[in-house]
Amino acid sequence: MSTPSSTAAAPALPAPVRDRLVASIAQGTLELPVLPEVASQVVKLSGDPNSDTRQLAALIQRDQAMAGHLMRMANSTLYAPKVPLVSLDQVVSRMGMKKIREIALIISCQSKVFAVPGFEALIKAQFRHSLAAAAFAQEIARNRRWNVEEAFLCGLLHDVGRPVLLQKLIDLHQELKLPLDLGAVEAAIGALHTRVGSDLVKSWTLPARMAETVLYHHDAMKSTSAAQTAMMTQLADDLAHLLLTDGGRAVAEAAVRAHPLLVPLNLYPDELDALLAQRDTIKAMVESVS
Ligand SMILES: [Fe+2]
Ligand SMILES: [Fe+2]
Repeated sequence: MSTPSSTAAAPALPAPVRDRLVASIAQGTLELPVLPEVASQVVKLSGDPNSDTRQLAALIQRDQAMAGHLMRMANSTLYAPKVPLVSLDQVVSRMGMKKIREIALIISCQSKVFAVPGFEALIKAQFRHSLAAAAFAQEIARNRRWNVEEAFLCGLLHDVGRPVLLQKLIDLHQELKLPLDLGAVEAAIGALHTRVGSDLVKSWTLPARMAETVLYHHDAMKSTSAAQTAMMTQLADDLAHLLLTDGGRAVAEAAVRAHPLLVPLNLYPDELDALLAQRDTIKAMVESVS
């Protein structure tokens, strides 16, 4: 059934901008933000079964800005340690490799990806949305007894293609001396962010399942190799939109209660209630980090 909004044509990008963008994505030449050196090493170490936390501490020590950020984040309400963690060694040994990877990626996303000059308020709202989706994905994974660290990263990174594309489109319009039509830019980002986000996750050498999850986070049932995490992320995305209304499209509670993915995810109404009951806690966490 068509609705007035679905029949209205989305505004289009100027042809030269569209052609260059589409070609660079297809050819794999779109410039993607590079993961900061220390974060990249942390990702590598976390995938190496022979690495240990001493190596990790020594590595982080080399980047004082990252070390400071990490100390602050480890003591924030997101991780809520029972006693304050006062040294980097303590942070690393208490939290372990996977959590440190998570924090390094939050910091990298916030400082390197969700940073588009001139669009600070929009991008901050998108970063907050990503954090909320990460927290909801983690709660769904906890309920399903799936890997919670992987779930958090799927949520954190699901929309990472959005700020990347916004920056690229601003640059292209400037280069070609064309005026920016925000409606057209938003429509293009909506259509292309899953592919670009997935390419970014691959380029950061994160597990292939995360890249596939990002690719299918709006159409999880189509995923062949990451259906579970894609469904989890798609539901988490909607829960995040229900929680924070400044992060894009509006999602009503009734829509979440009738969500088509609740059955394939095997989530019963009382389990959804438990997820929804986390809203205040997740909102407080988002406030503390962003
Ligand atoms: Fe998305
Ligand atoms: Fe999203």
